[in-house]
Amino acid sequence: MPLKIAQLGQPVLREKAKPVRPERLASPEFQAFVDEMLTTMHAARGVGLAGPQVFASERIFTAVVLPTGNSSVRPEVFINPVLKDLSAETRPGWEGCLSFRELMVLVPRHQSLTIEYLDRKGEPRSLALSGYAARVVQHEFDHLEGILTIDRAESTRDIVKESEMNTVLETRGEFEDDEDEEDDEE
Ligand code: NI
Repeated sequence: MPLKIAQLGQPVLREKAKPVRPERLASPEFQAFVDEMLTTMHAARGVGLAGPQVFASERIFTAVVLPTGNSSVRPEVFINPVLKDLSAETRPGWEGCLSFRELMVLVPRHQSLTIEYLDRKGEPRSLALSGYAARVVQHEFDHLEGILTIDRAESTRDIVKESEMNTVLETRGEFEDDEDEEDDEE
C-alpha cells in the first residue's frame, strides 16, 4: 500500500535526515519499507522519493536514473548518499515535487556529479550521472537536508503553478530544451 506523502508545511520536510544504520539494512522491516517507498513512488508516478517525504527522517531515497550508456530506466535505492565531483557548470530546469504538486520551480543544478551510496543490500556503489539523472539525484539529496526547490529558485518569478506550465514554456521558451521531462515530480 502506498505510504502517505508529506505535503509542504509538514516539519519533517525541513529536518536534516539522520543516517541509516547499516545494521538495519538486513532487517525484514527495513526491506519492507524500501518496497513501500518504491510502490509509493510508482503509484504517485514520480521519478524520485525521499525518506522525509514519507515521514521517515532518514537518509534514503529512491530515484529513476539512467546510468551513462545504459538506455534502460530503472529505479535505484540510495542509502546514506554522498555527492562528489559536482561540475562547475550548472543549468536551470523546471522541477516538480510530490510534496507540492501544484508548483513548478526553475532550479539551477550541477550538470554532472558522482554519487556514492549503499544499495538496499548494503553494498557500496558509485554512479557517475549527468543531465536529467544528475538533476533528480540533487533534488532528492536536497530533501535529506531539508531543502526544497522553492529554496533554490533564483527569483520568486521562477515559481509557477503547474497548471500554467504550457503558458510558461511558451513565454519563457529559453529553457524548453533543457528538460524534456518537466512534468515529472520528485
Ligand atoms: Ni521533491
